[in-house]
Amino acid sequence: MKRRNFLSLVSGGLGSVALFSCSKEFAESPYHVAAAKRGGGAGARYPLRIPGIVDSPNGYILNCKNGGSMDVGGKTVSNLWSYNGEYPAKTLVARKGTQVKLTMTNNLPEHTITHWHGMIVNSANDGGPMLEVATGGSYSYDYPIIQRAAMNWYHPHPHLLTGKQVNLGMAGAFIIRDTIEDGLNLPGVPYEMPLILRDATIDRNGNLSYKTTSGGFNGQVSMVNGIISPYLNVKRGIYRFRILNGANSRIFGLALSVTDGWRLIGNDGGLLPTVTAPSRMDIAPAERLDVLVNFNGYPDNTKLYLKDLRAGTDLLEFRVNGDQTGTFLYPAAGSALVNDIIPLSNPVTTRTFSFDGMTKINGKVYDMERIDWQVPFGQVEKWILRTNGNAPHPVHIHGASFMVISRSGGRAQLYPWEGGWKDTVLLEDNETVEVLIRFDAYKGIYLMHCHKLEHEDLGMMANFEVV
Ligand code: C2O
Ligand code: CU
Ligand code: CU
Repeated sequence: MKRRNFLSLVSGGLGSVALFSCSKEFAESPYHVAAAKRGGGAGARYPLRIPGIVDSPNGYILNCKNGGSMDVGGKTVSNLWSYNGEYPAKTLVARKGTQVKLTMTNNLPEHTITHWHGMIVNSANDGGPMLEVATGGSYSYDYPIIQRAAMNWYHPHPHLLTGKQVNLGMAGAFIIRDTIEDGLNLPGVPYEMPLILRDATIDRNGNLSYKTTSGGFNGQVSMVNGIISPYLNVKRGIYRFRILNGANSRIFGLALSVTDGWRLIGNDGGLLPTVTAPSRMDIAPAERLDVLVNFNGYPDNTKLYLKDLRAGTDLLEFRVNGDQTGTFLYPAAGSALVNDIIPLSNPVTTRTFSFDGMTKINGKVYDMERIDWQVPFGQVEKWILRTNGNAPHPVHIHGASFMVISRSGGRAQLYPWEGGWKDTVLLEDNETVEVLIRFDAYKGIYLMHCHKLEHEDLGMMANFEVV
């Protein structure tokens, strides 16, 4: 279908439908009610899947393919689209200062391209829609890791098809290590793992069902690492969870079932200067949280929960048994963690971007051929991101990390997980968020877009060029 037809279909068919309240629809789904009951501790829970690790992924091949199946916890989905047959895809791990060489092969029945979300790379390695390859094609990436330790992720980014491909199972974590992190005595494997959150709808035939609306995909069940109602056996000690919201559209309101049980130590762009202990953290699509959880002091067979306060569900059950080997950092809330972040200041230029409706930025729908603005290399700029309605819009920028300096309207405050370096920031209704950004790594063409993937696919995306 031509893009123009697709868009007019959407605006004619769906554009005027009122937005559902996500959590209401979610809570009323019969499947969800059953899952939530299980979440109360009485019914079945299934072992959390921990994705395999590829260390220094040189020569690694990401085979994009369809047709695989996956156990999602007591049932199997049979129409998975994936990287190498797995959801989540392998966790790639590489150190700052090393070179990454990877090849993506496209064995899907449609175009795709893989984007390294959060990775500071040149345009040729960024995996934007201009680089998409047809069925049977491949794309080779070759880039140095020039940024600090962080957890980024990879997912498809083809024109108009990102929401579908991600929803059908294509996503994985990419962890960067560095010497600053090495010096902190943080828990490592097996006490460190990604927790990739998402939602899904599974139809009667056991297929993942992706039905989009302009308000965003709204799945009937939530999953952690692809498992519905998972549990994880943990030992008394400290765990490091690298949390990613890998959902198309859903925001999670994360909390623990115990008070003061965790520490927030990092986010999108890596470790934060100061440790905090928020009782609740709302995480929008593509945002990451780096969290230490303290399981010390609980008797054997204690159960704790990672909760989603928005949907009212217990996302993950922790079952405490036995003692951890080794002792790891568990800093006091308010203590300093790292001092390698030099804040941006004194912006030279200010630009304003309005996220309009569900399909436009500054009144324009995405056009692959159009470059909307140019940014001088190496200069600090203030970008004002705002919306009047139809939010949430998690705004994501490629090519550089940014610092969030203010939020007015709406929630009218900044949160601890919005400190340090970010690549995605949430705009709720009527919010204006100011960020400082500097493109000082590469010149070239990059993207800014809403990471509610349905909004992205409908055109809430723009090209700009660093010159
Ligand atoms: Cu996570 Cu432009 O994408
Ligand atoms: Cu990105
Ligand atoms: Cu949006």
